[in-house]
Amino acid sequence: MTRNDIILEARGLKRRFVTHKPLFGKPTEVRAVDGVDLQVRRGETLAIVGESGCGKSTLARLLVRLIEPSGGTVHYEGREIGALGDAAMRGLRRDLQFIFQDPFASLNPRMTVGALIEEPLRAHGIGDAAARRDQAAQMLTRVGLSPRHADRYPHEFSGGQRQRIGIARALACGPKVVIGDEPVSALDVSIQAQVVNLLEDLKQEFELTLIVIAHDLSVIRHMADRVAVMYLGQLVEIARTEDLFRAPRHPYTEALLAAIPLPQYGARKVKVSIEGDPPDPIAPPPGCRFHTRCPYAIAACQTDRPALRDLEPGHSVACLRAEELDLTGTADAERSHNPATERRFRLYREARHEELQSTPT
Ligand SMILES: Nc1ncnc2c1ncn2[C@@H]1O[C@H](COP(=O)(O)OP(=O)(O)OP(=O)(O)O)[C@@H](O)[C@H]1O
Ligand code: SF4
Ligand SMILES: [Mg+2]
Repeated sequence: MTRNDIILEARGLKRRFVTHKPLFGKPTEVRAVDGVDLQVRRGETLAIVGESGCGKSTLARLLVRLIEPSGGTVHYEGREIGALGDAAMRGLRRDLQFIFQDPFASLNPRMTVGALIEEPLRAHGIGDAAARRDQAAQMLTRVGLSPRHADRYPHEFSGGQRQRIGIARALACGPKVVIGDEPVSALDVSIQAQVVNLLEDLKQEFELTLIVIAHDLSVIRHMADRVAVMYLGQLVEIARTEDLFRAPRHPYTEALLAAIPLPQYGARKVKVSIEGDPPDPIAPPPGCRFHTRCPYAIAACQTDRPALRDLEPGHSVACLRAEELDLTGTADAERSHNPATERRFRLYREARHEELQSTPT
């Protein structure tokens, strides 16, 4: 891999939030992201997974500078984005777009759909009014809606349709990197596959690099080329999707995979499950942060902090015992996929092709 293959890179990225500021003494801080090194490759779909509160959204927001880091850097196309002034950053915003989880909260209810999609174009000084209207109409068609919808308001649409509007808005000005922070979690299960398929189609068409945060590991397996696993503000494993699912090398990843529901097999027999809640991010445990819940922990895990290191090309792990552990993945191809989810994806892909042929109402 050459440096040119890396479109976005985090180095030692940190973000702390002050949660309590007493009159005297030290403020209480959450280390939401605590020293993340991550390289995102041009054209890939990279998934970020981990339990609620582990820092996924904070990392995603740092990567596109929606928030400022407490330490470390982000480089986009080799340029450090934290060092850019307002004007340069405005130009860059065109390249780095964000799709939010909640399509209800993220669209201004007082703007028409057309105005919402045209807004980023206007902000970046793209085209005149007529060209922007045309572009909005094209984007609406491209996301499976109709140009006629431009005059309507967000509340007139379903959750799935609103997320399509959010996607049209994010893609209108031709970004290179799109981050979807749980882009389908707020939608009905039956609609999720439609939106996932739409994102995949648009990724191909617009040659995007996609960073996706999702809780549903079947969705991740379906979409992602690589997966980064986060635990308490740090990355603990990064690998190609199939490698990570078949042969996880970190106990936390093994536990996450073991939690995938497999209804067709009844209760899954697993060696490990995640016990209890994650520790308080205000005072993360010393040594390996997972040691309080890890079934393989030894004494050294309480004191020695494991660094993220390459076990093999393209597979990095932060575990002191990674070489010696024999962890359980989802090795059997039949067990590893959730057939119900796969069937849904197939059906909606077929439906989508039909949908593109006809004019939606
Ligand atoms: N603005 C904020 N102020 C204070 N604490 C925050 C803020 N944003 C995030 N945090 C804290 O930082 C940690 C990481 O939060 P973050 O939202 O990044 O997690 P997440 O992995 O996206 O979780 P979820 O899966 O629930 O969306 C949490 O402990 C959270 O409470
Ligand atoms: S370093 Fe120790 S506690 Fe941490 S994941 Fe590895 S075995 Fe478990
Ligand atoms: Mg989040």
